[in-house]
Amino acid sequence: MIFPFFVTSPWAWLSWLLGASASSVSPAGTRDAEQFAALHAAAFGRGWSAEEFERLLIEHNVVADRAMSGERLVGFVISRLAADQAEILSIAVAASFRGRGLARKLLDVHLRRLALYGIGSVFLEVDERNIPARRLYSGLRFHEVGRRDSYYVGAGQEAGTALVLRRDLA
Ligand SMILES: CC(C)(COP(=O)(O)OP(=O)(O)OC[C@H]1O[C@@H](n2cnc3c(N)ncnc32)[C@H](O)[C@@H]1OP(=O)(O)O)[C@@H](O)C(=O)NCCC(=O)NCCS
Repeated sequence: MIFPFFVTSPWAWLSWLLGASASSVSPAGTRDAEQFAALHAAAFGRGWSAEEFERLLIEHNVVADRAMSGERLVGFVISRLAADQAEILSIAVAASFRGRGLARKLLDVHLRRLALYGIGSVFLEVDERNIPARRLYSGLRFHEVGRRDSYYVGAGQEAGTALVLRRDLA
C-alpha cells in the first residue's frame, strides 16, 4: 500500500505546509554535485552528470546556491562569472516544492551574492514557452535583450525560441 507523503514523513508534511519558508538557502559546493545532477535530470529530462557538476562547482569563477529541506536538496541555481558579468547556467526546484516562492527566494539570495562579488549584470537564456520561468525572471526585473530562434530542439517538438534576458544589479 502506498501512503501519502504526509503520513510517511511528518517533516515532508511540515515542509509542504510552510512552503519556501521551510527551506534554507546556502552556498553550494562540490559535496552537492550528486544531488544537483539528480535534480537537474528530473527538472530538464537531460542530464548533466555528477562529475560535470563537480567540475563546474570546483571552478573559482562559478557560484552556486542551494535550497535544502532537511537533508534533501530541493532547489539550486548556478552561475559562471566573467569580469563584472555573470551568466545563470541553470536553476531548478524539485517538482513537489514548486509554486510556493522557493525559486524566487533562491534567486534573490543568489543575485545578492553575485552583487557582493562585484557583478554588475546578469544574463540568462529561457525558452519562450517556459511560462513559470519567465514569470520568475520578470518578477525579479530581468528584461529581454535578445532572441535566438529555433534554439531549443526537442524530439518530436517544434523548435523553441530562446529569449536572452538581462538584469542589472548596480
Ligand atoms: C522555473 C522554476 C525554477 C520555478 O520554481 P518555483 O519555485 O515554482 O517558482 P516560484 O514559486 O518562486 O514562482 C516564481 C513565479 O513563477 C510563477 N509560477 C510558478 N509555477 C507556475 C506555473 N506552473 N504556471 C505559471 N506560473 C507559475 C509564480 O506564480 C511566480 O510568479 P509571480 O511572482 O508573478 O506570482 C521551476 O518551475 C522549475 O524548476 N522548472 C524546471 C526547470 C526550469 O525550467 N528552469 C528554468 C530554466 S530557464
